Amino acid sequence: MKILVINGPNINMLGTREPEIYGSTTLEDINCELVEYASTLGDVELEFFQSNHEGEIVDKIQSAASFNGLIINPAAYTHTSIAIADAIKSINIKAVEVHLSNPQTREDYRKISYTASACVGVVAGFSKESYKLALLGLVNKINE
Ligand code: DQA
Repeated sequence: MKILVINGPNINMLGTREPEIYGSTTLEDINCELVEYASTLGDVELEFFQSNHEGEIVDKIQSAASFNGLIINPAAYTHTSIAIADAIKSINIKAVEVHLSNPQTREDYRKISYTASACVGVVAGFSKESYKLALLGLVNKINE
């Protein structure tokens, strides 16, 4: 099974970006841990993509029809991007939204997610473990 993992704007800054909120782990470390975790779930192959640009994320999603599933941390675009939500809905694969922090406990403007409605589930608030929980849930959904 092939899973695409997309991270949105400023996720490339993990490690130095607001460590009190996002922790001190880098995106590369998170991706490495996720590859290791994926190997415990059977035949699960991961591809990673990070962009700070909404249109690039839309393009990547549109080209993802050959994947079995999508894990996406849209970052700030979660709260603004109808375009990314529409792109996820335009491809026929299951998606899970993931967040390191729990946006529901933060500023009001983070409490709305445009992208969640395009996803089969949302995992938020478990720091880097959110990605592993999202992968487990997504693989189970795909295997259902
Ligand atoms: C985030 C939460 C968003 O509100 C924020 O804009 C991010 C990161 C998270 O993973 O906790 O950039 O998606």
